[in-house]
Amino acid sequence: MSTEKQLLVIAHRGAKGEAPENTLAAFRLGLEQGCDAIELDIHLSKDGELIVIHDATLDRTTDMKGAVNDLTVAELKQADAGSWFDEKFAGERLPLLEEVFDLTPPDVMINVEIKGSYGRKLEHALCALMKRKNRVHNVVVSSFDHKSLMFLKLLLPEAKIGLLYDMNAAKHSALADTLGLPVYSLHPNMKRIDTEDVREAIERGLRVYPYTINDEAQMQEAIDYGVSGIITDYPGRLNGLLDRQPR
Ligand code: G3P
Ligand code: MG
Repeated sequence: MSTEKQLLVIAHRGAKGEAPENTLAAFRLGLEQGCDAIELDIHLSKDGELIVIHDATLDRTTDMKGAVNDLTVAELKQADAGSWFDEKFAGERLPLLEEVFDLTPPDVMINVEIKGSYGRKLEHALCALMKRKNRVHNVVVSSFDHKSLMFLKLLLPEAKIGLLYDMNAAKHSALADTLGLPVYSLHPNMKRIDTEDVREAIERGLRVYPYTINDEAQMQEAIDYGVSGIITDYPGRLNGLLDRQPR
């Protein structure tokens, strides 16, 4: 019998609705709110480290400007990644992926989303870190760039990979076949799926983790579809709704 939880509460960039996205404060809040998994985004620093940030530049979510890849970790760590959201988060720093691995209990899954292309250096660094931190089996690596996922899977065949996409598909599970490599999960835009798509993909052995669902009516719709997890900015809200489900 499978011991996998019925529906994972996946904190999008941490508890992004209530804390500055992709900071340790946001991840801690997600964990406090009982999330089962954390979703985060990564780029590569000038000196080859994996930095947790959504955009390729610092401009939107810190008090500095410029491309992440033009700066070293020492330089990136100067940026304040909290004040733009709320003064009470002043002094939050851009985390290294390694710091999030250290913060997160091993029973909480981490969904690492690869952003940007760095001549495959990012995929090499990610595989090395997952192995060094013993995180191969409780990380799902996702990306809109499916070639990046193929490359990673060839580097590290045990890695779990998840296809992100935002398009209508006649048969969603067929997307998994396009890689010619085992796919762990589908990460569709919630607007693109219906109950039949989800049922068919799950019957094929795929997990379905739609993004990004924040209002309760849409959360309930996804629950009723039978999804494997929900990516949300409000993990506390989703847990509250799950607690109120008829048993
Ligand atoms: O992984 C789900 C979601 O994060 C994908 O879009 O732009 O929020 O990274 P984005
Ligand atoms: Mg993301």
